[in-house]
Amino acid sequence: MGEMNERTIIAVLGGTGSEGSGLAFRWARSGHDVIIGSRSAGRAAKTAEELNRLLGGGERVRGTSNREAAHAGRVVVLAVPYAAQLATALEVQDCLAGKILIDVTVPLVPPRIDRVQLPGGESAAAVLQRRLGGSVKVVSAFQNVSAIHLKDANHAIDCDVLVCGDDAPAREVVIGLARDAGLRGWHAGALANSVAAEALTSVLIALNKRYKVPASGIRITGIPMRDEGWGRKER
Ligand SMILES: NC(=O)c1ccc[n+]([C@@H]2O[C@H](COP(=O)([O-])OP(=O)(O)OC[C@H]3O[C@@H](n4cnc5c(N)ncnc54)[C@H](OP(=O)(O)O)[C@@H]3O)[C@@H](O)[C@H]2O)c1
Repeated sequence: MGEMNERTIIAVLGGTGSEGSGLAFRWARSGHDVIIGSRSAGRAAKTAEELNRLLGGGERVRGTSNREAAHAGRVVVLAVPYAAQLATALEVQDCLAGKILIDVTVPLVPPRIDRVQLPGGESAAAVLQRRLGGSVKVVSAFQNVSAIHLKDANHAIDCDVLVCGDDAPAREVVIGLARDAGLRGWHAGALANSVAAEALTSVLIALNKRYKVPASGIRITGIPMRDEGWGRKER
């Protein structure tokens, strides 16, 4: 898997869901300490147990409430449905000061989730950043990565990660975490650009339906690959 980012404590709010638990699995597998957050500490503990079992034993993953997870995490990931995005983040806002908050949320509007319908036509991550204020570094990423194969250790994920955020060093950290999860992340510019990544998910869902596949993805082309560390340097 290559050189790991500095080992860190990653809290995944809503980490009982398929996307959050899948990312949690990949991060724990690469050596990070992962805390699953949930509205129910019991549910979080159950997910942590499952992940530790999948990881072959040990206690690399633990589970607790969203609040305790947000408090303990050095990096916090928000992986709840769009309808709960703002409320979940605001509930733990006091635990987020000075931290990176990775927003994985896709503002899908059921039932037509295969149609781009961004509320207000703007990025949900950018709206979240405005509400949380500048002390929290919101970085959006992973919206285009389907949960389906994340917990299959032998399955390479065929999808790049657009990493958007207004703080370049924070983006760099997230690109490193994408790499640790076995994914290729790219500096995709300001948080406002997240609108494209969020919208792309509905395009991918439409492609999945049309071509009867479980998990289409995206690739960025035209940028020469380097031997070491995709995420290491600004490009
Ligand atoms: N699934 C994918 O393939 C995929 C891919 C890319 C991005 N995403 C995005 O990632 C996020 C999570 O996706 P998911 O499929 O894992 O979602 P999910 O399973 O529907 O929800 C994730 C977790 O959020 C918590 N949650 C649900 N409703 C809530 C509410 N009203 N208030 C607070 N917490 C609530 C639940 O945890 P507790 O009940 O334990 O609190 C749930 O396990 C979504 O925004 C989604 O758009 C998903």
